[in-house]
Amino acid sequence: MKKIKLLLLSLLLSITAFAADEKTAAVVTPAPAGLGLSQSELLIVLLLLFVTVLLVVSLTLLKAFKVMYQEQLNPTPYIETVKEPVLDYDTWLKQQPVKPSIWTKLLSLRPIEEEKDLVIDHTYDGIKELNNPVPAWFNFLFYGTMIFAAAYLFYYHIGGYGDLQDQEYENEMAKAKIEKAAYLEKSANTIDENSVKFDDTPAVLEDGKTIFNTNCVVCHGDKGQGIIGPNLADDYWLHGGNINSVFKTIKYGVPEKGMISWEKNLNPKQISAVTNFILSLKGTNPAGAKAPQGEKYEAKNPKDNEMKVLKDSVNKADVTKK
Ligand code: HEC
Repeated sequence: MKKIKLLLLSLLLSITAFAADEKTAAVVTPAPAGLGLSQSELLIVLLLLFVTVLLVVSLTLLKAFKVMYQEQLNPTPYIETVKEPVLDYDTWLKQQPVKPSIWTKLLSLRPIEEEKDLVIDHTYDGIKELNNPVPAWFNFLFYGTMIFAAAYLFYYHIGGYGDLQDQEYENEMAKAKIEKAAYLEKSANTIDENSVKFDDTPAVLEDGKTIFNTNCVVCHGDKGQGIIGPNLADDYWLHGGNINSVFKTIKYGVPEKGMISWEKNLNPKQISAVTNFILSLKGTNPAGAKAPQGEKYEAKNPKDNEMKVLKDSVNKADVTKK
C-alpha cells in the first residue's frame, strides 16, 4: 500500500514537473492556435490519459492473477512422454532407407535379396545363371565404337575423304620443304666469312659462274687465269686459300691493291656462290695463266676448310657407338 502511495506521489510530481516544463516552453513558443487549451485543461487531459493507461494495466494484471490462481487450484498435467521401443542394431539397420551407392548404380547391381528374381530357369550340374544385364552406358560405348569404326572405315578407306598416314607424311614433308626453303632463303643473308660452307652443287656453281662472269672477268680473266688480278685457278694465294679466307677477300676486298670490296654489290649468298665457284677452278690450268703469286695453299679436301658448323643430323658413328 505504501508503495502505491509513493508511486502515485512520484507520478504527480512528475506531472507537475512536466507542466512546469510546458510553461517554460509556452513562454518561448506560443501554444499552437488549433488546440487552444489552457494549462489546467492540458493537465486534466494528461491525467485522464494516465488514468486510462492505469486502468488497462490493472485489468491485464487482474487477468494474469486469475489465470495464476486457477493454475494453483487445479494445475494442468504435463503431457506424458511417448515411450519408444528400444531396437537392436539389426532391426534398426533394416528400418533405414537403403540408398544405392554410385558404384551399385553404375554397374546396375541388384541387392542380394532380389537374386531369386534374376535366376534364369536353366541349370547345369546345379549351377544356376543369373540375368545381370550389362549397364546401359556400357552398351552405348560398345555400339558407339562400332559406329565409329564403320564411319572411320568409310571416311578413310572406302570414300577416301581423309588422308592416310602415308599421305599425311608426304604432306608434312612437302610443307616442311617449303618452310625449309623459306628459312634458307632468309638465313642465306646471314652467311659470313665464319659460317660460309663448301658447296659444289651444280646450281651453286652455276650461280657463282654467272656472278664471276659479270663482275670479276675484267681483272681475273674468263677462266680465272688472272689479268690485273691474280690467278685464281692455281694453288697459290695472296690472302689464304681456304674458303673462309677467299670469302673474306671478296667481301672486304684489298682496296689498296686494286681489289674492291664486294660487300655492297653482292649479297652474302652471292659471295658464297662465287667463292665456291673460284674454289672449283683449282687445277683447271687455264691457258695463259698468270704466274703464281703468294703462298702455296696445300690442296686439301676443301671440306676440311669448313668452319665447324652445328650438325643438324645425328652422326652415324655416334649412334653405333652407343
Ligand atoms: C678491278 C679489278 C678486279 C676486279 C673487278 C676483281 N678483282 Fe679480285 N683481285 C684484284 C686484284 C688486283 C687482286 C690482288 C690483290 C692483292 O694483290 O692483294 C685481287 C685478288 C682477289 C682474290 C685473292 C686472291 C689471292 O691470291 O688471295 C680473290 C679471291 C679475288 N680477287 C676474287 C675476285 C672476285 C670473286 C671478283 C668478282 C666478284 C673479283 N675478284 C673482282 C682485282 C680485281
